[in-house]
Amino acid sequence: MKRLLAGLAVCTVVFAPLAASADDAAGIWKAKCAKCHGADGSASSGMGKKLGIPDYTKKDNQAKWKDAELKDAISKGIPAKKMPAFEDLSAADVDALVKHIRTLAK
Ligand code: HEC
Repeated sequence: MKRLLAGLAVCTVVFAPLAASADDAAGIWKAKCAKCHGADGSASSGMGKKLGIPDYTKKDNQAKWKDAELKDAISKGIPAKKMPAFEDLSAADVDALVKHIRTLAK
């Protein structure tokens, strides 16, 4: 029993950092989203321009979407507009990404 508890304690320590947090969202954004949306969300790079992605640093653009719509776009994608579906991201990751997107507006 003692050994089992010790094992559980180790698991908690090892896996706790995997839980989504604002830092993770910034990391995911950089790794998976920035190539199209831009590191700052302005989509001002080649890919963002080519795909006609809205500038997320503009409050007016962000006001068009409810959080639920942003979550849907991330997890299900927008096939008609070439936004890929990120089905592998957990609900917590998607939540954190939406929060991250909201922080990009100036
Ligand atoms: C291959 C390029 C590409 C990648 C990679 C990408 N997106 Fe998108 N994303 C798009 C396009 C294109 C749209 C549609 C833009 C439009 O016309 O509204 C879009 C739309 C969205 C929307 C809906 C709001 C909107 O602009 O219509 C959200 C939210 C979003 N992306 C988040 C993300 C997140 C978070 C990631 C990373 C996990 C990501 N995207 C990765 C291309 C991309």
